[in-house]
Amino acid sequence: MSLSKNKTVCIINGPNLNLLGKREPEIYGKETLDEINLRAQQKAKTLGLEVVCKQSNHEGELISFIHEAFKNKIGGIIINPGAYTHTSIALRDAIAATKLKTIEVHLSNIHAREDFRHKSFISPVCVGQICGLGSFGYLLALEYFAN
Ligand code: DQA
Repeated sequence: MSLSKNKTVCIINGPNLNLLGKREPEIYGKETLDEINLRAQQKAKTLGLEVVCKQSNHEGELISFIHEAFKNKIGGIIINPGAYTHTSIALRDAIAATKLKTIEVHLSNIHAREDFRHKSFISPVCVGQICGLGSFGYLLALEYFAN
């Protein structure tokens, strides 16, 4: 599967991911979100893709990002919904409604952590989930879209 029409991928990060670098670095690593996004931009270039990076701490705004991506006929979404992964039916519905090809990414291995993190409302409407590989997960997701 490839992005035949639109080679733009939107990377969406949810709540508290703006604090990466400072936030529990033993779990989420030392890289800041800006550094991760920069690496994604560089990787995308080598893959012939364009990347748009968004972050919000608000559920509704994350949903608006998805609607916007749909309106702009963007090729795909890479989303780390943070804690909304485990709570947000609205976010799941936005992905289902737009049918945008979406990959769910988590820095940590959510299945090896607390029970409440094992459930993702997002996974069933995604092409797949990458977790536990740190920021490398975003780059792998980009490779998927390039191929
Ligand atoms: C996370 C995992 C979530 O459980 C947590 O709430 C986050 C980050 C991750 O990237 O590992 O905010 O999505």
